[in-house]
Amino acid sequence: MTMQKFPKDFLWGGATAANQLEGAYQADGKGLSIADALPGGPDRFKLVNEPNFDWTIDEANCTYPNHRGIDHYHRFKEDIALFAEMGFKCYRFSIAWSRIFPNGDDKTPNEAGLKFYDQVIATCRSYQIEPVITISHYEMPLNLVKKYGGWKNRQLITFYETFARTVLTRYHKQVKYWMTFNEINSALTFPVMGQGLVAANGASDKKNIYQAWHNQFVAGAKAVKIGHELDAELQIGCMLLYATTYSYDANPVNQLATLEQNQAFNHFCGDVQVRGEYPAYTNKLMQKYGFSFNELEIGENDLALLKANPVDYIGFSYYMSSTIDVADAEREQASGNLIGGVKNPFLKTSEWGWQVDPIGLRIALNELYNRYQKPLFVVENGLGAVDKPDDKFHVQDDYRIDYLREHIQAMAGAIADGVDLMGYTPWGCIDLVSASTGQMSKRYGFIYVDLDDQGNGTLNRYKKASFEWYKQVIASNGETLA
Ligand code: BG6
Repeated sequence: MTMQKFPKDFLWGGATAANQLEGAYQADGKGLSIADALPGGPDRFKLVNEPNFDWTIDEANCTYPNHRGIDHYHRFKEDIALFAEMGFKCYRFSIAWSRIFPNGDDKTPNEAGLKFYDQVIATCRSYQIEPVITISHYEMPLNLVKKYGGWKNRQLITFYETFARTVLTRYHKQVKYWMTFNEINSALTFPVMGQGLVAANGASDKKNIYQAWHNQFVAGAKAVKIGHELDAELQIGCMLLYATTYSYDANPVNQLATLEQNQAFNHFCGDVQVRGEYPAYTNKLMQKYGFSFNELEIGENDLALLKANPVDYIGFSYYMSSTIDVADAEREQASGNLIGGVKNPFLKTSEWGWQVDPIGLRIALNELYNRYQKPLFVVENGLGAVDKPDDKFHVQDDYRIDYLREHIQAMAGAIADGVDLMGYTPWGCIDLVSASTGQMSKRYGFIYVDLDDQGNGTLNRYKKASFEWYKQVIASNGETLA
């Protein structure tokens, strides 16, 4: 098959998040993050429903997979060497806020935490791997949740600003690409990880979610401003969870509901962060929950700050599409990446029920580019699957290769459509702890990590079949996909 060429400087790489792979959750002065308080197993998100959840970490009765991660904190050199062997041009990772400001509200940063990222960045650079940093990826300091009630509290803007200024100042010479908040829009359905809003501090009141978003928009705009003042060439993006959304049928009722779901979920946060202003449909979204924009706490200079500091590019995750049918309440529901929808009869699903839809990625890229005309970056994509290693720990993960190939073909199609696409960092390029389930057995990586859901294993790393395959993809700049 003749492929459309990817741009010469296309950023091929992989993506991770600190809380899901570093482990060492109390090493060298690190404080607790929200992810450290999430157990593995069925109780992982008890805090979503329990109004009296008190954040006790009960090591005696629960496992906490994020505490150990895959011990990347002590093995990052080996891991980045493997990424380099695959030919990564970039590596997306996040900085654990609680390594730098253990309580979030500390006056001075923890130098030992910064020293860790000094080494990670230097190791990337030694292989000419471009670091791509998510400033905040589902790992806010737990203290900011317990003491301040999470992002609905405006004081968090100052704490984030201090954090962002610290890391941007320290790393702007080595790191060109940044993102402010991972999957900021995911809070609409799941405000726990990104906003620190749980049953006990008001997650069920949508006004809190919108207030938290406003505070995050302002904090993100401050990060953009700080970054550009340090170096006008820095590229600072937003990061959205994008699920291409279809109407189940031609029923106008479903079409309208699809439009509204797109506004509420896929587009609202991007509209503010990319265009620098609240969209015309803002009040409609809020009125659905019984409040209006005027009721939010908005600082005097907030709107001017947003307008003056839009993001440079749009980073987004894409795993699946979603289908809407409000006309038929009986329709079978689908699982998904924090949003579901109904089952789409044209799509297969992953072992976790996520609907696999490569064409949906081409549509997403077109929708986003037509809407914003700014460069796009697919910073997460991949298949969570159970891998079965042989007795030499080899995994023949053809199913993962098939998934990635089809999504790369979809990206090539979108580039041919005229979309400006900067790069591709498949999720969990090395196996890591699943954000939603806390499982190790839900694997995404090119590199197998010998660790099971109960924490047993050597933590040794092994290359899967997809490792060699992705190496060829990168070496051929997306031409060789067989
Ligand atoms: C994204 C998150 O939603 O999906 C990642 O940014 C997460 O942190 C990824 O790991 C895959 O989801 P899961 O639940 O399978 O780990």
